[in-house]
Amino acid sequence: MVEVSSEELLLWIQNINKEEDRDSLYLLIDLLGGISRSEINSLKIKPQKVINMKVSLDSLSKNWKEFIQNKKPIQYLSNSCYWRDLNLEVNKHVLIPRVETEQITDIVSNLISDSTKELLITDLGTGSGAIAISLALKSSLWTVLATDIEQNAINLAGKNFKKYSNTNNLKLFCGTWWQPLKKYAGKIDIAISNPPYIPLKVYKNLPISVKNYEPQIALNGGDDGLLHIREIIKEAPKYLKKDGWLLLENHFDQAQKVKTLMLHYGFESIEIIKDLYGIGRFTIGRYK
Ligand SMILES: C[S@@+](CC[C@H](N)C(=O)[O-])C[C@H]1O[C@@H](n2cnc3c(N)ncnc32)[C@H](O)[C@@H]1O
Repeated sequence: MVEVSSEELLLWIQNINKEEDRDSLYLLIDLLGGISRSEINSLKIKPQKVINMKVSLDSLSKNWKEFIQNKKPIQYLSNSCYWRDLNLEVNKHVLIPRVETEQITDIVSNLISDSTKELLITDLGTGSGAIAISLALKSSLWTVLATDIEQNAINLAGKNFKKYSNTNNLKLFCGTWWQPLKKYAGKIDIAISNPPYIPLKVYKNLPISVKNYEPQIALNGGDDGLLHIREIIKEAPKYLKKDGWLLLENHFDQAQKVKTLMLHYGFESIEIIKDLYGIGRFTIGRYK
């Protein structure tokens, strides 16, 4: 811990270029320094002689420079991110879980009418484990099977889960989409995926903050963005129970195409669900 006075911290904040993004600055102080925005606000009213910070102000300055000049996301600078009520570790092998994806946990909860029932849920392409962990923490009656092609992601998801739980209702598998789940064929109640869905041309023009730092394998969805979505939908009937649900996150303009694919592979009750910004971000269907 590094001791600073509230005066020093508030002055440091003031001296940072005023034009720059304040929300990002507060996120940096929170994730790296361990001091939240609300704590800072209360220091303005009630100053303290000594605050214990996780890093020095010099270190905060260096990291801020890295964020401003090199566009490195604060989550990768601090190796952590907030997602729903979780504080997850992230690293260069995993995507920073996005705010719109938080809705998936609620969509799944709404699908489940009987909370006393044991369920088998999958999260395909789990990354940091965000979706899988939030669901595994909701009920010990739910077993979540999470897969990812990247072993480093699987390791990190396991570490993130251990931070919150000592239960064993999250099982992690390294492999491509459904392939590691052969022994669960026909048994899965709900399958979820936020797969790579950015069309290649769009991927190539993504901002530096994304393209230079987030794993390409987590974002690039091939020529039309649907490469992985197609694969997941095509194989889903082998793994889902009759009446089982498939829930996919998709790019802003893909929902109708995802719906058509689901219809083609025997899904019914297909619904497109809008995200917080009014975009048809999630497509859900029931395998009959
Ligand atoms: C968009 S990220 C989603 C990560 C996490 N579920 C989230 O919502 O933050 C897609 C994930 O799919 C994984 N992935 C890419 N290709 C895969 C494949 N063929 N099989 C399994 N996982 C794959 C990536 O490693 C990445 O973690």
